Amino acid sequence: MASATTPIFSCDDIQIAAETKSIVKGVALSVYPGEIHALMGPNGSGKSTFATGLMGHPSLDVKGKITLNGESVEDMPPHERARRGLFLGFQYPVAIPGVTVASFLRASLNALGKQSNNVFEFRKQLEDTFAKLGIPWSFADRYLNDGFSGGEKKRLEILQMVLMEPRFVILDEIDSGLDVDALKVVAKGINEIAQKGAGVLMVTHYQRLLDLVVPAKVHYFMDGKIAFQGGADTVRELEANGYDWLKQKVAGADVTAVSEVI
Ligand SMILES: Nc1ncnc2c1ncn2[C@@H]1O[C@H](COP(=O)(O)OP(=O)(O)OP(=O)(O)O)[C@@H](O)[C@H]1O
Ligand SMILES: [Mg+2]
Repeated sequence: MASATTPIFSCDDIQIAAETKSIVKGVALSVYPGEIHALMGPNGSGKSTFATGLMGHPSLDVKGKITLNGESVEDMPPHERARRGLFLGFQYPVAIPGVTVASFLRASLNALGKQSNNVFEFRKQLEDTFAKLGIPWSFADRYLNDGFSGGEKKRLEILQMVLMEPRFVILDEIDSGLDVDALKVVAKGINEIAQKGAGVLMVTHYQRLLDLVVPAKVHYFMDGKIAFQGGADTVRELEANGYDWLKQKVAGADVTAVSEVI
């Protein structure tokens, strides 16, 4: 078991290629229990490829070390990583017509060994979590993400996260499509899971999520690498000046400061 002085998640020299195209080019980071990190960067810089590669997406060629709770997981298929507490909330959750939300959740929790044997208890747990996240109970009988609005899909990703109680959570643009009220509910869910000791890596483009879920560290991706790392305050500079700010920081006067943290 990892202690508080051991990262709950770390990766080293991650390189990812898709169909022979090199996209992620040597990324290392560590997240400690209860810590929240943000991952930002321009469109196409490789954030989602990094996120899905860490989960073990079969279409990606992923090299490098991935350690979860002290155990190497880089050779494991995605479901084994999930069993050990890795969770990925997708940027674009897929619809599965024919599979209801309730049956999907039952099957997922069962696969993780988390489902109560008592069917009434399980239903109560589901109902409580749906209510907590402001998801109408009628969604349980709908097909997974089928016809869901953008915000509804993201709420459902958070619902899965809450039910699965992961150790390390990667959320890819969980804030996109959320209205202000849903953003608060989602932020509360993320803060709660971190307070319970999970590590969190949130991919986002916007300050508004990071005002509610304050990251200890922000990693800025450029061209498949972490070009810069800073505190939550650096996001304001980005909002004000755009990615030219980052390019100048990396290329220009602050290059010494940058290289210290890469
Ligand atoms: N299977 C693939 N084959 C070829 N190129 C790919 C493949 N998957 C991703 N890419 C390319 O890799 C780059 C990184 O994509 P990725 O989705 O990781 O970016 P991102 O940082 O998440 O962007 P965004 O902020 O728009 O979500 C893009 O140029 C994308 O077109
Ligand atoms: Mg993306």
